[in-house]
Amino acid sequence: MPEFNRASFPTTRMRRVRMQAFSRDLVQENQLVTSDLLMPIFVTSGNEQEAIASMPGISRIPLKDLANEVKEIQSLGIKAVALFPAGDAEKSADASAAFDDNSLIQQAIRIIKKTCPDLGVMSDGALDPYTLSGQDGLTDEQGKVLNDETVAVLVKQALSHANAGTDIFAPSDMMDGRIGAIRTALDAAGYQDIILLAYSAKYASNFYGPFRDAVKSATHLGKQNKLSYQMNPANSDEALHEVALDLQEGADMVMVKPGLPYLDIVARVKDTFKVPTVVYHVSGEYAMIKAASEKGYLDERAVVMETMLAFKRAGADIIITYFAKQVAKWLKDES
Ligand code: PBG
Repeated sequence: MPEFNRASFPTTRMRRVRMQAFSRDLVQENQLVTSDLLMPIFVTSGNEQEAIASMPGISRIPLKDLANEVKEIQSLGIKAVALFPAGDAEKSADASAAFDDNSLIQQAIRIIKKTCPDLGVMSDGALDPYTLSGQDGLTDEQGKVLNDETVAVLVKQALSHANAGTDIFAPSDMMDGRIGAIRTALDAAGYQDIILLAYSAKYASNFYGPFRDAVKSATHLGKQNKLSYQMNPANSDEALHEVALDLQEGADMVMVKPGLPYLDIVARVKDTFKVPTVVYHVSGEYAMIKAASEKGYLDERAVVMETMLAFKRAGADIIITYFAKQVAKWLKDES
């Protein structure tokens, strides 16, 4: 703490600068801008947009509508999108659709980079949309999630996304050693400029429920959980260990996920490593705000903007949120 050589009350009145809007604005420490936001998109192999019941306002987008969707997103000033595949068609025990160059996500990447070449595309590295188990990795007969075998598939997935033109590959699987293996393979294939965003501190959270509805993995996962690879919500130092390893292996950006319940982790990661830090405001957090606002218990706009600012204050450089389009519109209204 700096030392203040000042008398306290009544000389010091904290409320003085809060009295008027101009001075509140002048002393404001953190600002939210549209370029902080990243918008997730669920892509479906179907022909029609499909509303997601647990995520009001969010739909699965068919490939034929994707160009329009990303044009709108870009016109709002949003710099990048995150793609997730939804559907049942592509699941198998070996998750081979993950690295099929003609699979849904690979097609989506190509459409977006053709439509909006300057819009950043982030694609997810994990096998849960493709496995019959709904787990993020390959499993043995007992259902154990296999680390090294999964990393080998993630490497193929990264190369296939790179071939399709992804800008940011973001492994969300929490297997050990995947960042190093993927970096090595991408570099060897001439993809040294593809950004690796590591979901480093990804917790085994109950806030992912609506996402699993959105990508249709919930019924596959059933009563199984992801505790053998995602982090225990009780742990904090362990998150720093995870981030340190991913940085050592070559991650360009790191993520903390979920968002609001894990702000302490965002702050510790940013303070410790001072690298680009991403926070994922996840599906369950979105659903809570939507549900309470629909009931009239909360003012949606005010609560969302406060939440975004809280992420900035904690140290997040990038916010992945299903509210991104809406927030961009609100920021436009304000300017
Ligand atoms: C799966 C993945 C999940 C999310 C992003 N990638 C769910 C999970 O780990 O089960 C969650 C995102 C959200 O809830 O919004 N690899």
